[in-house]
Amino acid sequence: MKAIHRVLKYEIFPRQEEQFPLMWEKFFGRSAPLFVEIGFGNGEFLVEWARQHPEGNMVGFEIAMESMERAQKLIHTAQIPNVRVIREEARWGLQEFFAENSIHHVMMNFPDPWPKKRHQERRAINQTFAQILGHVLEPEGIFELVTDQKWYAEAAHVIFNESQFFTVSSIETNPPRPVQTKYERKWRRLGRDIYRLQAHKVASAAIERKILEEPMPHKIIRTPVTREQVVKLQNHQEESGSTFFIVKEIYLAPEENRYLLKTIAKDEDYMQKFFVVITPHRDGWIVKLDTVTQPYRTPAVKYSVYQVAQFLENTAGSSQQ
Ligand SMILES: C[S@@+](CC[C@H](N)C(=O)[O-])C[C@H]1O[C@@H](n2cnc3c(N)ncnc32)[C@H](O)[C@@H]1O
Repeated sequence: MKAIHRVLKYEIFPRQEEQFPLMWEKFFGRSAPLFVEIGFGNGEFLVEWARQHPEGNMVGFEIAMESMERAQKLIHTAQIPNVRVIREEARWGLQEFFAENSIHHVMMNFPDPWPKKRHQERRAINQTFAQILGHVLEPEGIFELVTDQKWYAEAAHVIFNESQFFTVSSIETNPPRPVQTKYERKWRRLGRDIYRLQAHKVASAAIERKILEEPMPHKIIRTPVTREQVVKLQNHQEESGSTFFIVKEIYLAPEENRYLLKTIAKDEDYMQKFFVVITPHRDGWIVKLDTVTQPYRTPAVKYSVYQVAQFLENTAGSSQQ
């Protein structure tokens, strides 16, 4: 049996990186056109796509842990050198990890369609998505969607057609495909039609990236911090514009002078869970990010550290009164 660490070596961990957008040459050992697959599932398409495009560097995004493992086993067995995978929400990855005009082709095979109106917000393709692609795709770069849901292809057509950054081909039914995915085989076996849409970038869009070019946020407090003050932070939440955070749980070290706050922060709809540490420091106390959870340094993460420190400063001395 192959040692698992030898197989699971195709994953990139962007949270460990200092520089954004990412330096892709570093992960592939060469500079080459970037191809991206969103939601690669078991990785079959990604591996075959890489085999058919040896001139490209392939990046796959998935959120399912099981898919990450399965795809890496496949990459390893196929001995394909030009594929890397990332466990990350793809829209965030496209927005934060790629430079303007840098991706040659983005592929989306059979996304979860979320047909119910109340789940509409979960659909991957919307105007923001088109705007992000309008930024990161190369001039003439391609976004390609394949789905078994005609209404979904039509809705995507409307979104890209209305976007000033793309021209859209008409929707093709049952196009020949060099490689089929697991879902594709399933739907075809059931006699369903497959629809393909291709959008070509014609103009570049501006986007607002979130990851900050700053060191880890921290704040020193010169007044003593008491246990009563920290306990009051349980469920403390604050919101400012599109940034939000809440302290969900508080852990206290046995020596009672070090606290960990399990915190959830949101930048628009991108959510991160991490720990904020409150601990003594030579100049008083320090509030900072714990290094284990490694959140991206976004406005909401920075806001949570600063507002926790502010809370402690504002409530200093109140417990003795
Ligand atoms: C219906 S499956 C299709 C899988 C594969 N593309 C195929 O055709 O067999 C959708 C896949 O997208 C993944 N996914 C869903 N939302 C995602 C997101 N925001 N970012 C990355 N992957 C996502 C899911 O985990 C799942 O594996």
